[in-house]
Amino acid sequence: MSSMREDVKEVLFSEDQLREKIREIGEQISRDYKDKDLLLVGILKGSVPFMADLLKEITIPCIMDFMAVSSYGNSSKTSGVVRILKDLDFEIENKHVLIVEDIIDSGITLSYLTDYLRGRGAESIEIAALLNKPEGRKVEISAKYIGFGVPDEFLVGYGLDYAEKYRNLPYIGILKEEVYK
Ligand code: IMP
Ligand code: MG
Repeated sequence: MSSMREDVKEVLFSEDQLREKIREIGEQISRDYKDKDLLLVGILKGSVPFMADLLKEITIPCIMDFMAVSSYGNSSKTSGVVRILKDLDFEIENKHVLIVEDIIDSGITLSYLTDYLRGRGAESIEIAALLNKPEGRKVEISAKYIGFGVPDEFLVGYGLDYAEKYRNLPYIGILKEEVYK
């Protein structure tokens, strides 16, 4: 059994860098949504560490919900198919919805979700993504809040998985190719 750290080629963002960036995003959200009915919607499971840390940096009242979708299965390549595995608990009519996601790659997941939530009567729908991989884009999508741009590599840690593992790394790193090839 190898250690997770040995499977990481390079650490891209340390715990300190993540904390600092998330603090900035939390401050912006708190300013932008002041006096608005804010609902954070985390996309399971990758967004969990980001959601947990972001939530604590938001200083205005808000509520939180989660959805689960599947788009990748257990591989490192997207299938292009989005399925809802867990829907929202709350009604979102007249709410300002902020989708909290770990990474935008092809854009397929978020493009599908924004259309879906718009159809349910949200007052506004925006996206907060910790990471953005522009080279992976297949459909156009714009996020209001983005933590870091990243290269077209397979990343793990801080919620990001390969075959469900590595989510518990406290930093974000590039997975060595020999692990998934
Ligand atoms: P999209 O629909 O292609 O934008 O896919 C977004 C989802 O793919 C994210 O929520 C992640 O779960 C997953 N994903 C995309 N890139 C990576 C990566 O580099 N590592 C791990 N998961 C990734
Ligand atoms: Mg995900």
